[in-house]
Amino acid sequence: MIVRITGTGSMLPAKQVTNLEISQIVDTSDEWIRERTGIGARYLSTGETVASLATGACEKALEMAGRTAEEVDLILVASCSSEMLLPCSACQVQANIGARRAVAFDLNAACSGFMFALNTAYAYLQAGIYKTALIAGSEVLSKIMDWEDRGTCVLFGDGAGAVVLEADASTNAGRGLIGFVQYSDGSKGEALVCESRALHNPYYSEESKNTYVQMDGREIFKFAARQVPVTIEEVLQKTAIPKEEISYFVLHQANARIIEAIAKRLDMGLEKFPLNLDQVGNMSSASLPVLLDKLQREGRLDRGMKLVLSGFGAGLTYGACVLEW
Ligand code: ACO
Repeated sequence: MIVRITGTGSMLPAKQVTNLEISQIVDTSDEWIRERTGIGARYLSTGETVASLATGACEKALEMAGRTAEEVDLILVASCSSEMLLPCSACQVQANIGARRAVAFDLNAACSGFMFALNTAYAYLQAGIYKTALIAGSEVLSKIMDWEDRGTCVLFGDGAGAVVLEADASTNAGRGLIGFVQYSDGSKGEALVCESRALHNPYYSEESKNTYVQMDGREIFKFAARQVPVTIEEVLQKTAIPKEEISYFVLHQANARIIEAIAKRLDMGLEKFPLNLDQVGNMSSASLPVLLDKLQREGRLDRGMKLVLSGFGAGLTYGACVLEW
């Protein structure tokens, strides 16, 4: 069975905020942020939610795929910043778009969330359980940022991206998703944390917690620069595809310097590593599908092109996938 992406979509909040504007909130500068990260601006929610952004992205992806919501069997939303614990964002998306037949649930693997959700949906489709899946990565990270911590709040943005994934038995389907590798290393989880609300019940009360993102930036940098190239090489080896055949390495947009380090270790030209973090910042699980949608809508993806996708982030979690467009 061939499993392929047949549509992409994205939705960003209405308000874009430049580095200059951020420098009026915390002690920072456009120069510092650009030099260290490559980020020039990000979109921040002025009321948009994980569910509303995911809904917009999913509607656009369905439109591109030429599918109706009623044809969707499975909806997965990857997020680490949902505004509702119950119901999950995927069920809200299901209701919003009217995908009455779909099974819907959320998945949290931080910045690897979209990759892991893609792999999960792939397994369902490959097994013949479902035929059509909608996978979104959606984040409103601005609500879990400490807006007095210049070391983190300048890095992240809000937004959502989605793809339609279909099982296709036709002869001209190409190869679609070819192979995945994915890993988790919980022993290094403290490098990037965000605690949930404190336990408070009639029998036990915890101290109030810091419920904002706290990050050891250098540790994350080292992890990504070291582990991601190894993971990409592994998936290429597993699928027997030479790296020279890859048209684009579509990587999680954490930081331009991380991506440069990865390109160097892979010994591949930077022109094969598309970037959009200049305009959108780090959107965690939304990063990959928003960039994929941008490439598709700019006409840069042709049928038959081979791509590597790679996500990495809190957990720690990381993975890579090879696909034919
Ligand atoms: N503006 C100005 N100065 C700042 C800022 C800021 N926004 N943030 C930190 N500084 C200061 C610090 O206070 C410190 O000052 P000091 O020397 O007087 O104490 C100085 O800059 C250096 O701070 P570091 O934290 O050591 O800065 P570093 O050079 O490591 O850069 C950065 C920080 C950009 C976060 C870097 O560690 C990095 O790129 N890490 C990767 C992490 C990442 O991208 N995370 C994204 C989320 S995880 C993911 O998506 C996988």
